[in-house]
This record gives sequence, C-alpha cells and structure tokens, in this order.
Amino acid sequence: MANVKVAVRVRPLSKRENAEEGRIIVEVDNKVAKVRNIKVDNRLDGPWDSREKIVAFSFDYCYWSIDPEDPKYASQEVVFQDLGTSVLSGAFKGYNICLFAYGQTGSGKTYTMMGTPASVGLTPRICEGLFSRQDDYSEQPASCRVEVSFLEIYNERVRDLLKQSDHKKPYTLRVREHPETGPYVQGLSQHLVTDYKQVVGLLEEGIAKRITAATHIHDASSRSHAIFTIHYTQAILENNLPSEIASKINLVDLAGSERADPSYCKDRITEGANINKSLVTLGIVISTLAQNSQMFSSCQSINSITSEGDSSPVGSHTTGSVSGTRRQAYIPYRDSILTWLLKDSLGGNSKTIMVARISLNQCLFFIYSHLSCQLQLQ
Ligand SMILES: Nc1ncnc2c1ncn2[C@@H]1O[C@H](COP(=O)(O)OP(=O)(O)O)[C@@H](O)[C@H]1O
Ligand SMILES: [Mg+2]
Repeated sequence: MANVKVAVRVRPLSKRENAEEGRIIVEVDNKVAKVRNIKVDNRLDGPWDSREKIVAFSFDYCYWSIDPEDPKYASQEVVFQDLGTSVLSGAFKGYNICLFAYGQTGSGKTYTMMGTPASVGLTPRICEGLFSRQDDYSEQPASCRVEVSFLEIYNERVRDLLKQSDHKKPYTLRVREHPETGPYVQGLSQHLVTDYKQVVGLLEEGIAKRITAATHIHDASSRSHAIFTIHYTQAILENNLPSEIASKINLVDLAGSERADPSYCKDRITEGANINKSLVTLGIVISTLAQNSQMFSSCQSINSITSEGDSSPVGSHTTGSVSGTRRQAYIPYRDSILTWLLKDSLGGNSKTIMVARISLNQCLFFIYSHLSCQLQLQ
C-alpha cells in the first residue's frame, strides 16, 4: 500500500440544493472523477475559449453515493471495505494510521467518519473491526489492549471531549513533545475499552460535546477539528520472548474548508482564519513529506545503480554521498496544532488516507485534493 491514499466521495444533493435546482457536476468512472465546468457548458466550441468543459482527476478510490438504487452506489459498507479494512490491516501490522475527511461544510465529512444510527460510518466500524478481529489474520495476538481518546481543536486550542471541563475555559490543554514518543496532549484522558459498546458510548459522548455554530451553508456546521485516537497494543511472542506491537490510529473529522465570508461576525472570521491555517499547514506538510520521500526513493535508485556496477557486497554503500548533496526539506509540523499532533501519524512509520468529499460546487477543494494526491503518488 502506498503511504498516502486519496479517496473522493460524491454525496446526494441536499433538500436545499434540490429546491434551488442544483445540478450534479461530477461524474465518477471507476477511479476517475470528471468535473463539468458549467460556465463553459453552453459555449460554442472555438479557439477563443481554451477552458475545458470536463476535467478529469484520478484518485485511489472514487465513491458515487448519490442514489442507493444505482448499481455503482457506494454505501458506508463499501467505503469501509476499502478504507476501513486498510486501516485495520495497517494497525494490526503496527503502523500508525491517519484517516481524515476533508471538504467544505455540508459536504459529508461527519457522515463518512461517524455516520448516523441508521447508516454507521467509518469510525465505529473500524472500532468494531478491532474487537472482532479474526479469520483473515492467522497470527492471532495473545492479547490486545485498546485505549481511546477524543479531542477537539478549535481556534488552535485543544479540549478533551471525554472529560468534564470548566465551562468558561474549556480549551486549556497544552500540546507537548516527548523526545522519544513524540507530540502528545498533556492531561488528555485515555479510556481503556474492552468492547465495541463502550467505544460507541464514548464516541456519542464526545460528538455531543463538539462545538457547532450556525453558518450560512449548514445549520449545525462543525467549526472544529475532531481527532478520535485509538492506541492499539498487541502482546505477542517474538522468538519466544514477550513483546508488543503498538500502533496509533487517528480518525480525523476536519472542520469545513470553505473561505471565510467578510460579512461574517468577528468570531466567525477568527474561526475561519484558524481553520484555514491548519488546513494550509496540513497541505504543506503532506506535500513536503511527498517531496522528501520522492527524493529518498531517487537516492535509493541511484544507489542501487551504483552498487550494481560495483562488485562490492550489498550494504557497503551508504546513501551518505548522495543524500549529503540533497537535503531533506524541513517539515513545518509545528505551524499548526493539528499537524503537530498528527506528526507521528503523517510521517515515519505511518499510512495516511484522505477522504475528500464533494457535493455540488466544490471544485476548489477537489483540485486541492487532486494536487496532494499527485504529489504523494507520482
Ligand atoms: N453519502 C451521503 N449519503 C446521504 N446523505 C449524506 C451523505 N453525505 C452527507 N449526507 C448528509 O448531508 C448532510 C451534511 O453532511 P455532514 O456529514 O454533516 O457534512 P460535514 O460534516 O462535511 O459538514 C447531512 O445531513 C448528512 O446526513
Ligand atoms: Mg461535520
């Protein structure tokens, strides 16, 4: 599995969009999403307007979730079978995993990550998968431990969604960095869970606490990033000695990616600026990681060519001479709380899945997702 995968999901039109006679401008064909530019749709073809009518973008997965009667309809189960099972198999192997939903407010991020009671989303399904692990993974661990935490980042400040906090000052938790174990939130409550029912109880408790504020797009829009973290530790025997495989799964429901409208009140604008800051930093971090890994693989291939032409044993070459000339770019994890906290799940021993969601008129974010996809996977 490539280290970063990008999926895109198209949701049905909302009642409001239907009432306004909105049109779906995206088509999905296997792994390709095609966006129709309605501004040039009725144009007579000619050399004076070079804009494309349809622009196609490739993704690792494209989900069409418009009409359940449609044979290509992607239900919550279909999304879980692709993305959720990748998360689970990565966690069982000891990877840190990060799965996050990106898109405008109302595009269906929370629906995909959490779902509704009638249509359960990725997070509860992944938790269920951790507890019902069987069959496909023949090497069963002797025992495993699941600990969860749930936090919210709002205006670059953190609060615990699973602990009663001071109503006047709820966002007081500090992010710190341990030299060995990496960034963590000081004082964040960790909850040991032994079955699926307990996890669902905690998820519901945290969701109820998430801050919502009315925006012109969606009445109960989430203006904060929510990170549900699962620490999954397996006790195993390695060469007959007791050992542990630890992995961390971060399931992130990002705040809306829309631009702040200058007609909003001051609080809304501050929110928007902070949301954009963390999303921009996230984009920079992901593309810098991609550039670095590309540089690393080209260094590796140069080394393999050099060692092929040389009779010295494998291993006698180090990457030093090559990597010494091309430095890895600095990754600005600490420029936002979101990226700082996700540091060890974005880089290093980790796998990242991004689910971008689109609805009627979200070409901007769509293109952004496409760019990060290209950067990661080229
Ligand atoms: N794939 C989907 N199928 C059916 N309804 C959806 C789908 N995605 C989103 N919705 C509905 O659209 C509305 C907005 O979705 P929501 O997840 O709250 O958006 P966001 O979290 O991005 O702001 C909700 O009423 C949700 O139930
Ligand atoms: Mg939401």
